[in-house]
Amino acid sequence: MGGAGLQVIDRPAALVEWSDAQRTAGKQVALVPTMGALHAGHLALITEARKHADVVIVSIFVNPLQFNRRDDFEAYPRPIDDDIEICRGSAVDAVYAPLASTMYPVGFQTHVEPGALADVLDGPSRPGHFRGVTTVVAKLFGAARPHVAVFGQKDFQQLAIIRRMVSDLNMSIEIVGVPTVREPDGLALSSRNRRLSVEQRAAAICVPNALAAIAEAAGTEPEVAKLQAIGQAIIEAEPLARWEQLEIVDPDTLQSLSTIEGRALAVTAVWFGEVRLIDNRLLG
Ligand code: PAF
Repeated sequence: MGGAGLQVIDRPAALVEWSDAQRTAGKQVALVPTMGALHAGHLALITEARKHADVVIVSIFVNPLQFNRRDDFEAYPRPIDDDIEICRGSAVDAVYAPLASTMYPVGFQTHVEPGALADVLDGPSRPGHFRGVTTVVAKLFGAARPHVAVFGQKDFQQLAIIRRMVSDLNMSIEIVGVPTVREPDGLALSSRNRRLSVEQRAAAICVPNALAAIAEAAGTEPEVAKLQAIGQAIIEAEPLARWEQLEIVDPDTLQSLSTIEGRALAVTAVWFGEVRLIDNRLLG
Protein backbone atom coordinates (compact mmCIF):
# COMPACT_ATOMS: atom_id res chain seq x y z
CA MET A 1 0.00 0.00 0.00
CA GLY A 2 1.02 3.62 -0.47
CA GLY A 3 0.56 5.50 2.78
CA ALA A 4 3.33 8.06 2.24
CA GLY A 5 0.79 10.85 1.58
CA LEU A 6 -0.51 12.16 -1.70
CA GLN A 7 2.05 13.27 -4.27
CA VAL A 8 0.82 15.89 -6.73
CA ILE A 9 2.91 15.74 -9.89
CA ASP A 10 2.65 17.90 -13.00
CA ARG A 11 5.63 16.86 -15.14
CA PRO A 12 5.99 13.58 -17.07
CA ALA A 13 9.63 13.13 -16.06
CA ALA A 14 8.71 13.45 -12.37
CA LEU A 15 5.93 10.88 -12.77
CA VAL A 16 8.28 8.46 -14.57
CA GLU A 17 10.74 8.85 -11.68
CA TRP A 18 8.03 8.32 -9.04
CA SER A 19 6.57 5.29 -10.82
CA ASP A 20 9.98 3.72 -11.43
CA ALA A 21 10.78 4.09 -7.72
CA GLN A 22 7.56 2.19 -6.90
CA ARG A 23 8.43 -0.54 -9.39
CA THR A 24 11.96 -0.83 -8.02
CA ALA A 25 10.46 -1.25 -4.54
CA GLY A 26 8.51 -4.22 -5.96
CA LYS A 27 5.14 -2.46 -6.02
CA GLN A 28 2.40 -2.90 -8.60
CA VAL A 29 1.32 0.42 -10.07
CA ALA A 30 -2.25 1.21 -11.20
CA LEU A 31 -3.36 4.22 -13.23
CA VAL A 32 -6.88 5.68 -13.26
CA PRO A 33 -7.03 8.17 -16.15
CA THR A 34 -9.68 10.88 -15.65
CA MET A 35 -10.59 14.35 -16.82
CA GLY A 36 -11.40 15.36 -13.24
CA ALA A 37 -14.73 16.57 -11.79
CA LEU A 38 -14.49 13.36 -9.80
CA HIS A 39 -17.66 11.61 -8.68
CA ALA A 40 -18.68 8.23 -7.25
CA GLY A 41 -18.06 6.59 -10.64
CA HIS A 42 -14.39 7.61 -10.42
CA LEU A 43 -14.23 6.41 -6.81
CA ALA A 44 -15.35 2.97 -8.04
CA LEU A 45 -12.43 3.04 -10.52
CA ILE A 46 -10.01 3.97 -7.71
CA THR A 47 -11.38 1.19 -5.48
CA GLU A 48 -10.96 -1.31 -8.32
CA ALA A 49 -7.43 -0.04 -9.03
CA ARG A 50 -6.51 -0.62 -5.39
CA LYS A 51 -7.55 -4.29 -5.74
CA HIS A 52 -5.04 -4.76 -8.57
CA ALA A 53 -2.07 -2.77 -7.33
CA ASP A 54 -0.09 -1.48 -4.34
CA VAL A 55 -0.07 2.16 -5.44
CA VAL A 56 -2.67 4.14 -7.39
CA ILE A 57 -2.07 7.12 -9.66
CA VAL A 58 -5.06 9.25 -10.73
CA SER A 59 -4.42 11.46 -13.73
CA ILE A 60 -6.53 14.60 -14.07
CA PHE A 61 -6.29 16.24 -17.45
CA VAL A 62 -9.00 17.77 -19.63
CA ASN A 63 -7.58 16.67 -22.93
CA PRO A 64 -8.13 19.27 -25.67
CA LEU A 65 -7.31 16.71 -28.40
CA GLN A 66 -10.45 14.69 -27.76
CA PHE A 67 -12.96 17.56 -27.91
CA ASN A 68 -14.39 18.27 -31.33
CA ARG A 69 -16.36 21.27 -30.00
CA ARG A 70 -14.58 24.18 -28.40
CA ASP A 71 -17.63 25.18 -26.30
CA ASP A 72 -17.76 21.65 -24.84
CA PHE A 73 -14.04 21.82 -23.97
CA GLU A 74 -14.41 25.23 -22.36
CA ALA A 75 -17.55 24.27 -20.42
CA TYR A 76 -16.02 21.04 -19.09
CA PRO A 77 -15.90 21.36 -15.26
CA ARG A 78 -12.40 21.73 -13.72
CA PRO A 79 -12.69 21.69 -9.89
CA ILE A 80 -9.03 20.72 -9.46
CA ASP A 81 -8.72 21.61 -5.75
CA ASP A 82 -11.81 19.56 -4.86
CA ASP A 83 -10.51 16.70 -7.02
CA ILE A 84 -7.17 16.66 -5.20
CA GLU A 85 -8.97 16.58 -1.84
CA ILE A 86 -11.15 13.69 -3.04
CA CYS A 87 -8.01 11.80 -4.07
CA ARG A 88 -6.41 12.53 -0.71
CA GLY A 89 -9.50 11.20 1.05
CA SER A 90 -9.49 8.09 -1.16
CA ALA A 91 -5.94 7.02 -0.29
CA VAL A 92 -4.70 7.74 -3.81
CA ASP A 93 -0.90 7.79 -3.85
CA ALA A 94 -0.24 10.22 -6.69
CA VAL A 95 -2.23 12.72 -8.74
CA TYR A 96 -0.81 13.55 -12.14
CA ALA A 97 -2.23 16.92 -13.26
CA PRO A 98 -0.14 18.31 -16.11
CA LEU A 99 -0.87 21.56 -17.96
CA ALA A 100 -1.94 21.35 -21.61
CA SER A 101 1.33 23.07 -22.56
CA THR A 102 3.23 20.30 -20.78
CA MET A 103 1.27 17.53 -22.48
CA TYR A 104 1.39 19.16 -25.90
CA PRO A 105 4.42 21.45 -26.05
CA VAL A 106 5.32 23.40 -29.16
CA GLY A 107 6.53 20.87 -31.73
CA PHE A 108 4.28 18.03 -30.56
CA GLN A 109 3.26 16.07 -33.67
CA THR A 110 2.77 12.35 -32.97
CA HIS A 111 -0.68 10.79 -32.61
CA VAL A 112 -2.03 7.29 -32.11
CA GLU A 113 -4.52 6.47 -34.89
CA PRO A 114 -7.23 4.00 -33.84
CA GLY A 115 -8.72 1.59 -36.40
CA ALA A 116 -12.17 0.31 -37.33
CA LEU A 117 -13.50 0.33 -33.75
CA ALA A 118 -13.35 4.13 -33.92
CA ASP A 119 -15.25 4.34 -37.24
CA VAL A 120 -18.63 3.38 -35.75
CA LEU A 121 -21.03 4.68 -33.06
CA ASP A 122 -19.53 7.92 -31.66
CA GLY A 123 -16.71 7.96 -34.24
CA PRO A 124 -18.51 9.66 -37.17
CA SER A 125 -20.32 12.22 -34.99
CA ARG A 126 -17.18 13.17 -33.02
CA PRO A 127 -14.39 13.42 -35.63
CA GLY A 128 -10.94 13.07 -34.04
CA HIS A 129 -12.33 12.22 -30.61
CA PHE A 130 -10.97 8.69 -30.31
CA ARG A 131 -7.64 9.66 -31.89
CA GLY A 132 -7.38 12.26 -29.12
CA VAL A 133 -8.23 9.64 -26.50
CA THR A 134 -5.71 7.04 -27.73
CA THR A 135 -3.02 9.70 -28.03
CA VAL A 136 -3.49 11.06 -24.52
CA VAL A 137 -3.87 7.60 -22.96
CA ALA A 138 -0.66 6.45 -24.67
CA LYS A 139 1.09 9.52 -23.24
CA LEU A 140 -0.33 8.87 -19.77
CA PHE A 141 0.83 5.25 -19.98
CA GLY A 142 4.29 6.45 -21.02
CA ALA A 143 4.59 8.73 -18.01
CA ALA A 144 2.83 6.59 -15.38
CA ARG A 145 4.25 3.23 -16.51
CA PRO A 146 1.38 1.33 -14.88
CA HIS A 147 1.01 -2.43 -14.62
CA VAL A 148 -2.78 -1.94 -14.65
CA ALA A 149 -5.09 0.81 -15.91
CA VAL A 150 -8.74 1.12 -14.98
CA PHE A 151 -11.55 2.58 -17.14
CA GLY A 152 -15.34 2.82 -16.83
CA GLN A 153 -17.63 0.70 -18.98
CA LYS A 154 -19.94 3.69 -19.50
CA ASP A 155 -17.50 4.69 -22.24
CA PHE A 156 -17.75 1.23 -23.75
CA GLN A 157 -16.36 2.19 -27.17
CA GLN A 158 -13.43 4.01 -25.58
CA LEU A 159 -12.65 0.93 -23.47
CA ALA A 160 -12.76 -1.35 -26.54
CA ILE A 161 -10.44 1.00 -28.47
CA ILE A 162 -7.97 1.23 -25.58
CA ARG A 163 -7.89 -2.56 -25.17
CA ARG A 164 -7.17 -2.83 -28.90
CA MET A 165 -4.42 -0.18 -28.71
CA VAL A 166 -2.71 -1.93 -25.79
CA SER A 167 -2.82 -5.24 -27.64
CA ASP A 168 -1.79 -3.82 -31.03
CA LEU A 169 1.09 -1.78 -29.59
CA ASN A 170 2.30 -4.48 -27.13
CA MET A 171 1.98 -2.14 -24.20
CA SER A 172 1.96 -4.90 -21.54
CA ILE A 173 -0.63 -3.15 -19.40
CA GLU A 174 -3.64 -4.96 -17.97
CA ILE A 175 -6.82 -3.04 -18.82
CA VAL A 176 -9.64 -3.40 -16.30
CA GLY A 177 -13.21 -2.28 -17.08
CA VAL A 178 -15.52 -1.27 -14.23
CA PRO A 179 -19.35 -1.39 -14.44
CA THR A 180 -21.16 1.94 -14.68
CA VAL A 181 -22.15 3.51 -11.36
CA ARG A 182 -25.68 4.89 -11.38
CA GLU A 183 -27.81 7.33 -9.41
CA PRO A 184 -30.66 5.68 -7.44
CA ASP A 185 -33.03 6.45 -10.36
CA GLY A 186 -30.71 4.74 -12.87
CA LEU A 187 -28.96 7.72 -14.52
CA ALA A 188 -25.32 6.86 -15.22
CA LEU A 189 -22.90 9.06 -13.25
CA SER A 190 -21.03 11.47 -15.50
CA SER A 191 -19.09 14.67 -14.98
CA ARG A 192 -21.43 16.16 -17.60
CA ASN A 193 -24.50 15.58 -15.37
CA ARG A 194 -23.55 18.64 -13.33
CA ARG A 195 -24.18 20.79 -16.43
CA LEU A 196 -27.85 19.69 -16.59
CA SER A 197 -30.59 22.02 -15.30
CA VAL A 198 -32.98 20.59 -12.70
CA GLU A 199 -35.54 19.96 -15.46
CA GLN A 200 -32.98 18.35 -17.79
CA ARG A 201 -31.73 16.16 -14.95
CA ALA A 202 -35.26 14.91 -14.33
CA ALA A 203 -35.76 14.33 -18.07
CA ALA A 204 -32.46 12.43 -18.41
CA ILE A 205 -34.00 9.41 -16.71
CA CYS A 206 -35.44 8.57 -20.14
CA VAL A 207 -31.94 7.35 -21.13
CA PRO A 208 -31.62 4.42 -18.67
CA ASN A 209 -35.37 3.83 -19.00
CA ALA A 210 -35.03 3.34 -22.76
CA LEU A 211 -32.12 0.93 -22.28
CA ALA A 212 -34.03 -0.99 -19.58
CA ALA A 213 -37.08 -1.32 -21.86
CA ILE A 214 -34.87 -2.63 -24.67
CA ALA A 215 -33.20 -5.12 -22.32
CA GLU A 216 -36.55 -6.39 -21.14
CA ALA A 217 -38.01 -6.69 -24.64
CA ALA A 218 -34.84 -8.41 -25.90
CA GLY A 219 -35.81 -11.38 -23.74
CA THR A 220 -38.45 -12.31 -26.32
CA GLU A 221 -37.83 -10.02 -29.34
CA PRO A 222 -34.65 -10.68 -31.37
CA GLU A 223 -35.31 -8.12 -34.13
CA VAL A 224 -33.11 -5.07 -33.61
CA ALA A 225 -35.34 -2.62 -35.53
CA LYS A 226 -38.24 -3.40 -33.20
CA LEU A 227 -36.05 -3.04 -30.10
CA GLN A 228 -34.69 0.28 -31.37
CA ALA A 229 -38.24 1.52 -31.92
CA ILE A 230 -39.12 0.67 -28.31
CA GLY A 231 -36.16 2.64 -26.95
CA GLN A 232 -36.58 5.52 -29.38
CA ALA A 233 -40.25 5.96 -28.43
CA ILE A 234 -39.28 6.42 -24.77
CA ILE A 235 -36.65 9.04 -25.58
CA GLU A 236 -38.85 10.85 -28.11
CA ALA A 237 -41.66 11.06 -25.53
CA GLU A 238 -39.40 13.31 -23.43
CA PRO A 239 -39.65 16.91 -24.76
CA LEU A 240 -36.25 17.99 -23.33
CA ALA A 241 -34.38 15.07 -24.93
CA ARG A 242 -32.89 15.15 -28.45
CA TRP A 243 -32.16 11.65 -29.59
CA GLU A 244 -28.88 11.22 -31.55
CA GLN A 245 -28.05 7.52 -31.54
CA LEU A 246 -29.56 4.26 -30.37
CA GLU A 247 -27.72 1.26 -31.78
CA ILE A 248 -27.60 -2.41 -30.95
CA VAL A 249 -24.16 -3.79 -31.72
CA ASP A 250 -21.87 -6.75 -31.26
CA PRO A 251 -19.97 -5.91 -28.02
CA ASP A 252 -16.67 -7.17 -29.47
CA THR A 253 -16.65 -5.63 -32.96
CA LEU A 254 -19.13 -2.77 -32.25
CA GLN A 255 -20.72 -3.52 -35.65
CA SER A 256 -24.50 -3.04 -35.90
CA LEU A 257 -26.67 -6.13 -35.59
CA SER A 258 -30.00 -6.76 -37.32
CA THR A 259 -30.96 -9.72 -35.13
CA ILE A 260 -29.81 -10.64 -31.66
CA GLU A 261 -28.40 -14.14 -31.64
CA GLY A 262 -25.86 -13.99 -28.81
CA ARG A 263 -24.36 -11.17 -26.80
CA ALA A 264 -25.45 -7.68 -27.78
CA LEU A 265 -24.95 -4.16 -26.51
CA ALA A 266 -27.47 -1.32 -26.69
CA VAL A 267 -25.68 2.04 -26.97
CA THR A 268 -27.26 5.46 -26.90
CA ALA A 269 -26.35 9.15 -27.11
CA VAL A 270 -28.98 11.74 -26.19
CA TRP A 271 -28.77 15.54 -25.95
CA PHE A 272 -30.29 17.68 -23.23
CA GLY A 273 -29.73 21.27 -24.33
CA GLU A 274 -25.97 21.53 -24.94
CA VAL A 275 -25.16 18.43 -22.91
CA ARG A 276 -24.65 15.08 -24.64
CA LEU A 277 -25.11 12.03 -22.44
CA ILE A 278 -24.09 8.50 -23.40
CA ASP A 279 -25.04 5.20 -21.85
CA ASN A 280 -25.09 1.52 -22.77
CA ARG A 281 -26.42 -1.79 -21.55
CA LEU A 282 -25.50 -5.39 -22.33
CA LEU A 283 -28.46 -7.44 -23.51
CA GLY A 284 -28.99 -11.11 -22.81
O1 PAF B 1 -12.81 8.78 -20.02
C1 PAF B 1 -12.18 9.85 -19.82
O2 PAF B 1 -12.36 10.54 -18.83
C2 PAF B 1 -11.17 10.30 -20.86
O3 PAF B 1 -11.59 9.99 -22.15
C3 PAF B 1 -9.76 9.76 -20.61
C4 PAF B 1 -9.71 8.24 -20.70
C5 PAF B 1 -9.29 10.20 -19.22
C6 PAF B 1 -8.77 10.32 -21.63
O4 PAF B 1 -8.74 11.70 -21.59
